[in-house]
Amino acid sequence: MTAAPDYSEKIPNNVELRDDRRLQRALESWQPNFLNWWESMGPTLPTQDVYLRTAINVGREGWAHFGHVPMKDYRWGIFLAERNQQRQIAFGQHKGDPAWQKVPGEYRADLQRLIVIQGDTEPASVEQQRNLGATAPSLYDLRNLFQVNVEEGRHLWAMVYLLHAYFGREGREEAEELLHRNSGSEESPRILGAFNEETPDWLSFYMFTYFTDRDGKYQLGTLKESAFDPLSRTCEFMLKEEAHHMMVGTTGIDRVVERTAQLMVEHETDDAGPYGAIGLDVIQKYLNFHYSVSLDLFGGETSTNVANYYTAGIKGRWLEERRKDDHLLTDDAFMVDALIDGQIGQTEVAALVGLNTDLRREYISDCESGVTRWNRILDRAGLPQRLKLPHVAFNRKVGAFASVEVSPDGELLTEREWADQNGRWLPTDVDKTHVRSLMQPVHERGKIAAWIAPPRNGINGQPFDYDYVHLA
Ligand SMILES: [Fe+2]
Ligand SMILES: [Fe+2]
Repeated sequence: MTAAPDYSEKIPNNVELRDDRRLQRALESWQPNFLNWWESMGPTLPTQDVYLRTAINVGREGWAHFGHVPMKDYRWGIFLAERNQQRQIAFGQHKGDPAWQKVPGEYRADLQRLIVIQGDTEPASVEQQRNLGATAPSLYDLRNLFQVNVEEGRHLWAMVYLLHAYFGREGREEAEELLHRNSGSEESPRILGAFNEETPDWLSFYMFTYFTDRDGKYQLGTLKESAFDPLSRTCEFMLKEEAHHMMVGTTGIDRVVERTAQLMVEHETDDAGPYGAIGLDVIQKYLNFHYSVSLDLFGGETSTNVANYYTAGIKGRWLEERRKDDHLLTDDAFMVDALIDGQIGQTEVAALVGLNTDLRREYISDCESGVTRWNRILDRAGLPQRLKLPHVAFNRKVGAFASVEVSPDGELLTEREWADQNGRWLPTDVDKTHVRSLMQPVHERGKIAAWIAPPRNGINGQPFDYDYVHLA
C-alpha cells in the first residue's frame, strides 16, 4: 500500500518523505529555488486565485481536488502511482525479474539522462506559455492554461524527486540545472528544439497541447514501462494529469474550427479571416508546423541508444505488455522511413534499432484521430474543406528527412521550390500578425472572444460562466 498523503508537511507527498530526513532537507532547499523560478518565469498575468485541480492523493478517488487557490500557494507535491509488489520487468534482457527499486549501477547514467530530458520539457512549456494569460479568450480558457502550467510545474517536481532520491550529488546538480536552462535562451536553452519555440498566441497553445503534449504522453508511456519502478510509478501518475492537457488541445482546436466553420457558412466564403475568425488555411498551417516539430521530438528513425535502453529494460514500447511478441526483439526486423538514393522510401532494419519509428507511428495514428474529429465539425457544417496531417517528411529537422525539402503531400522539392512555396504551408508573418490581432483578452465572466466557440462543458461540472479566475 502507498502511504496516505501528508498535507501537514511542506511538500505534499505519498513517498513517506518524513522518514528520510536527508531527502526531505534536499527537497526543502530546492523548493525556494523552484518558487523563485515560478515567480520569475511562470505566468505573468496577476491573479488573486484560480479554480484549480490539486492532486492530493493517487487513489481512485480524491486525486483531483478542486477549489479556488492563489497560484503561488498551489501545493506542488510528489505522487507516485501505487506500488505493485509483484511487478516484473516486461521486456529486454531482464524480462521476468522483479522490477528494480534502486538504480542498477550500470544503468545509472542512462536513466539519469532520460529523467533529465523528460524533466527539462516540463518547466520549458510553462516558460513558453507565460504571457498567454494577457490574451485569454475567456476565463474558462485562462483557468485551463493555469491548470496546465501548475501541473507541468508538478511534473518538474516529480522528476526532481527522482533525481534527488536516487542519483546522489549529480542528481541534485541536475535538479538545479533544470531551473537554470530557459526556453529560447541563447546561452542555456532547453534541451529539445520544440521547447525553445515560442507559444505567442492561443492557436499555438492549443496546437502545442494537442501535438507537443501528446509527444509527452508517448514518452511518458515508454518510461512507465521502465524496469526502474519509481520512474514507472511516477510516469503512470503524470499520465493521468496529461489527459487534461490533451483535452485542452483537442477541444481548443475543435472550438476554433467550429467558429471558423460557422462564419464560413454565414458569409458563404472560403476565407473567414476578414470576419474575425482564423481562416481554415491558417489553421492548417499552424497544424503543419506543430505536427512537424513534434515529430522531430521522437528522434532519428533508427537509434542504437534506444535499442540499448530497451534491451537494458529502462525504456519500453508504447503499451509494451499488450504487444504479442517475445519482448526481446533480437530476431525481428522492422521497416523504417528512409531516404534511398535521394528518394523517400523505407528500409528494413533490426527491430531494436527502429524503436523510435515504432513510437512515432503510434503517435501519428493518435494524431489522425484529432484530424478526423475536426473534419467531422466541417462536415456537419456542410463544408467540403478538410484538414489533414502533412507527410511525415514535411519540414523535418531531425532524422532521415532533415536534409531534404518535402511538400505536405510528400513531393520532394528543390531548395528553390521550397523557398518559393513554404509560405503556403507554414505560418507566415502575415498569418501570425493576423492571429495575434485577434488575441484581444476577454476576462469577463461568461464572455468569449469572437474567434472561438464556447466549450460544450465547463470544468468539474461548473457552467461556462463560472468565476474560474479572480484577477488581481
Ligand atoms: Fe508534463
Ligand atoms: Fe502536459
